[in-house]
Amino acid sequence: MVSRKTLHLTWSVEEATKGGYSHFMLKEIFEQPQSLRYALNLQQFYVNVLAELLDRARTSYLVGSGTSYHSCLAGSYIFSNLAALPTVPCIASEFIQQYGRSINVDSAVLFVTQSGETADVLKCAEYARSRAATVLAITNVLGSTITRVARAYLLQQSGPEIGVAATKTYTAQLIVHLQLALALAKRRGKLSQSEMDNIKDGLKRMPEIIEYVLNKHKSTMEFLAERYMDKKHFFFLGRGINTATAYEGRLKLLEVSYTPATALAAGESKHGPIALIEKGFPVIFIAPRDSTRSLIIGNIMEMKARGAEIITLGEEGDDELRKLSDCFIPMPPMDEIFTPIAYIIPLQLFAYYMAVKKGLDPDKPRNLAKSVTVL
Ligand code: M6R
Repeated sequence: MVSRKTLHLTWSVEEATKGGYSHFMLKEIFEQPQSLRYALNLQQFYVNVLAELLDRARTSYLVGSGTSYHSCLAGSYIFSNLAALPTVPCIASEFIQQYGRSINVDSAVLFVTQSGETADVLKCAEYARSRAATVLAITNVLGSTITRVARAYLLQQSGPEIGVAATKTYTAQLIVHLQLALALAKRRGKLSQSEMDNIKDGLKRMPEIIEYVLNKHKSTMEFLAERYMDKKHFFFLGRGINTATAYEGRLKLLEVSYTPATALAAGESKHGPIALIEKGFPVIFIAPRDSTRSLIIGNIMEMKARGAEIITLGEEGDDELRKLSDCFIPMPPMDEIFTPIAYIIPLQLFAYYMAVKKGLDPDKPRNLAKSVTVL
């Protein structure tokens, strides 16, 4: 007989009820200021342990499924931009085929999984272990399988997420990536003290910024869902770090509202997908005032010239962008590195209201489970 120790989770009953919201998804979207505060409260010792193990590896991989994969994609930009550490983002179900033979004792694999139970991820973790790689994890569930397999892990501390669509756990994963990247940057001497201090200050301000965005855009996004609910297909286009935002915005929309959508790194649209554009085709651009802005303006013009309906998320006061847009969603100014955390918020709300307007239950999309435990 196997005897196991009882593990007490700190999650309260209140956290697992709807608390006055009509759906868990909406409640969890609105919990983000708080879940981000929790995610900012990591124990620095463990952050440093993971940073050291990633830094020691010859090649590092970031592996996850669905939304967690999107956080890996953003994470890869974050590690490279802040710490000059190249990492390979990979979809868990592709990892062994794509990189299996390259994994060895000099590899570190950071698995990102909210539940810690996703079968595709666990299979890769076992595989990586069998090849003597260093297995690391970011997860939300203490005691989950990944916490038993990983050599070291970070708990994102988002509290229970009941809605099938990942919302608060995505933004918390991004906050964890940023802290890990800062620790890496420090170890590797890649940022000056004042740059580190700026990023730390920016991180601390994120919960407040998210609160502002939620309050400012709840009704805007409900209104837009009403306006666009009959559209048959959407494009989500972003560049750089916000390519991940485009992918994640699209996944949210299609999984809860069953609306077909295509997400692309905006530079790819001219290589084929632009053929779909005709008058009134809705294209959502994630276009902060950052290093990608001038190129994305070019992409907007390309789409506009073909009659697309242009919906943009951009910085408040960006009049050039506003004039090019049929619908402009203003966002507060922030450093580029934080934009994926804030810019996904209106897109989460949009997906939620699209589902509700179509008479669907966003908490229980058909054919989906919260945790996918089959291969
Ligand atoms: O628990 P995990 O983070 O490993 O789950 C990964 C995906 O199954 C999950 O993100 C899924 O894509 C969600 N339905 C997205 O909203």
